[in-house]
Amino acid sequence: MTTTHPLPAWSALQAHYEQIRDARLRDWFAPENDPAPTRAERYTFSAVPGLAADFSKNRITDATLQLLIALAREAGVEARRDAMFAGEVVNPTEGRAALHTALRATDANAPFHAQIATERAKMARFADAVRSGAWTGYTGKRIRHVVNIGIGGSDLGPKMVVHALQHLATPEIKTHFVSNVDGADLYRVISQIDPEETLAIIVSKTFTTLETMTNARSLRDWFVQNGCPEAGLAKHFVGVSANPAEVVKFGIDQDNVFEMWDWVGGRYSLWSAVGLSIMIAVGPAQFDELLAGAHEMDEHFRTTPLERNLPVLLGMIGIWYRNFFGSQSYLVAPYSEALHYLPSYLQQLEMESNGKSARLDGAFVDYATSAVTWGEPGTNGQHAFFQMLHQGPTIVPIDFVAVLTPEHPLAGHHAKLLANCFAQSEALMLGRTEEEARKVAGPDKPELAPHLVFPGNRPTTTLLVDALTARSLGALIALYEHKVLVQASVWNINPFDQWGVELGKILGKVVEADLGAAPADVKPHDSSTAALIARARTALKG
Ligand code: F6P
Repeated sequence: MTTTHPLPAWSALQAHYEQIRDARLRDWFAPENDPAPTRAERYTFSAVPGLAADFSKNRITDATLQLLIALAREAGVEARRDAMFAGEVVNPTEGRAALHTALRATDANAPFHAQIATERAKMARFADAVRSGAWTGYTGKRIRHVVNIGIGGSDLGPKMVVHALQHLATPEIKTHFVSNVDGADLYRVISQIDPEETLAIIVSKTFTTLETMTNARSLRDWFVQNGCPEAGLAKHFVGVSANPAEVVKFGIDQDNVFEMWDWVGGRYSLWSAVGLSIMIAVGPAQFDELLAGAHEMDEHFRTTPLERNLPVLLGMIGIWYRNFFGSQSYLVAPYSEALHYLPSYLQQLEMESNGKSARLDGAFVDYATSAVTWGEPGTNGQHAFFQMLHQGPTIVPIDFVAVLTPEHPLAGHHAKLLANCFAQSEALMLGRTEEEARKVAGPDKPELAPHLVFPGNRPTTTLLVDALTARSLGALIALYEHKVLVQASVWNINPFDQWGVELGKILGKVVEADLGAAPADVKPHDSSTAALIARARTALKG
């Protein structure tokens, strides 16, 4: 793949790559080559208390890091970062700032501070009322189920956080997330709940998203069909949006509208009223902790020299693999069930932000941008796709995320979990040579030896979190948010728009109309799409 890029450090990195591409991590780690301070000591960085990143099992040397940091400087990472924090229009294709950092700022002079504080206080009053039972449904029963209806950024962030912080959540209320327009998603939830005890939070920045509006309407119909009078709906529906007029038009009481703003991107919005389900689950104080953790990471990113700046290091090492090693994908493996939804959250954050080809100046890139982001919690992944990571010909860089202390009381699990995480990164790094494989195969089975070879030299980063608190989670999320900005700066793209989702939405409306239209009114399509529509028309009629 061509990876031309105009900056001098880019060319220097290409030359450097040629020099070290065959160097082996196991040699760098060999005791005779790893004097104090060891690789682990030199390449482990901490941004905030309780969160450290061990980059030492990456295919990097001091020279690599120097060149990557030089590239970050040449690409203007610092200027892009400062412009974002200052509220400049860093999303020029939509003419907007991207001020998710303002949502967790503590300084009263930070942009939009007053309106953020007002909305947050309204959220807290509401969350407290629901949590305490003071807010009841139309029959006077307390709320026991919260159903968050939203999709993309209006779903993935809150869902990930509510799941991650379950150990801090009130046992009185169960939170459900419905996103898919597939009715099976909503049906699964309404089959488990009682409308008298259910609060629906309709979350949509635009309040026009097909999936969310379809689910919201179906849920409202379900309430009415199950006995809730129209006048009682105000006790069961609240809306979160940057388009409050549409929320009211939908029929949600003006007092039950929580505002977010166009300067908060959907995938960066869990810190706003989009996080109302989080606040109801864990309470306003823990929500504040989440914000505080993110703010700590913001301050680290804003003020720490690039050489020790965690989002910069994470982002630039990602660029090293994507643009110089040609890695197509990168894996996030949280060794934590609580962080089950971190990979799917990061898929949107990384790929919707940086899956672009048009640069800020309108030219098209001739280098790779966002890698395919994927992942599953460990240890489950080990018994599914780790085979390929260890022995396939493709190199997939990995972020392991491990939490040192468990959130549950069960003895005998956590050491096994951590042991597996650390052993995987060790095995991926070390591999097993042909000679070692022959020994393992034994003299009777030499033909087995090739199958026992592990190439090794597979790069991994281990993010270590002391304990999964709201604060450490906030810092972890903000780390990845800023990593995305760092990479976007080097690739010279806008991480805050998402034009790539538009075409499918437009055509989706045409196809939906065709599925229900009279035969003569069906629009022309290519033969494949036409045949698929024809089959579905028959099935839907049947
Ligand atoms: O279609 C993509 C997208 O616009 C995402 O960027 C966004 O998070 C999601 O849809 C939901 O949008 P909304 O919050 O406006 O319903």
